[in-house]
Amino acid sequence: MKREEEPILQLEGLSFGFETAKPILKEISFAIERGSLSLITGPNGSGKSLLLKCIKGLLKPTAGTILLEGEDLTHHGKARLRSIGLVFQDSETQIVGQTVERDILFGLENLQLPLPVQRQRLDDVVALLDLTKQLKQRPRALSGGEKRRLSIAGVLVMEPKLLIMDEPFANLDYPSVVQVLKTLLRLRNEGHTIILVSHEVEKILAYIDKVIILEGGTVAAQGPPSLLRPLFKEHGVYVPEECALEDLTWLKP
Ligand SMILES: Nc1ncnc2c1ncn2[C@@H]1O[C@H](COP(=O)(O)OP(=O)(O)OP(=O)(O)O)[C@@H](O)[C@H]1O
Ligand SMILES: [Mg+2]
Repeated sequence: MKREEEPILQLEGLSFGFETAKPILKEISFAIERGSLSLITGPNGSGKSLLLKCIKGLLKPTAGTILLEGEDLTHHGKARLRSIGLVFQDSETQIVGQTVERDILFGLENLQLPLPVQRQRLDDVVALLDLTKQLKQRPRALSGGEKRRLSIAGVLVMEPKLLIMDEPFANLDYPSVVQVLKTLLRLRNEGHTIILVSHEVEKILAYIDKVIILEGGTVAAQGPPSLLRPLFKEHGVYVPEECALEDLTWLKP
């Protein structure tokens, strides 16, 4: 298989527990295609955030394999930390800089990249996430949507192979949700591979290539949204009727 054709991420039989006798994640297998936008959903406590931390390399799986671009990185947590960008569920706690600009540059400075490279990456990411006007502002002064975009910028500037976001729409008002959604679609159009974890399935379903439903730490179902839609309810995923698939299609790039 050519490199571009193979899935960017493959999990095979991934399990995890804080105590070996009590696994929380159980034999999770799925593949994520390059350039796709995927959604992991499932009820509270189904293991979504733990799964992301295992993929990212913050938690060590107790069994199974994790392949990135076909390479077995199961036992190379550090390589996964470098290659995979994770925007946390409470992403605002990741904001450390005194200004938006300083915050975005923070990770790059730690990498000790040459200054012109840092500048170029900053400019690109700021344009992509529409934060140019906010560069000199204090992060605390930003709106919810701008803060969320800043935490995405701080991760994206590190040029991860895979961008993962845990609940990117949580606690945002409607205009901010639209801002963040537009950002995600723009990133996808630029060729980024994105995995989202969200309960708010109705906001994003129209744009998703693949849905993975977790329930009780296992994959209850996976596939394209058109096939999975009828299964949401039985697996504890609530999708309000009044905000159906079509409602946000005007946003489609
Ligand atoms: N540090 C921890 N120690 C022990 N158990 C934990 C820890 N973190 C999470 N768990 C348990 O693991 C299970 C999965 O948690 P996780 O946070 O992954 O769920 P989630 O699907 O992200 O939920 P939510 O939708 O509420 O964010 C839960 O039962 C939780 O109580
Ligand atoms: Mg969670």
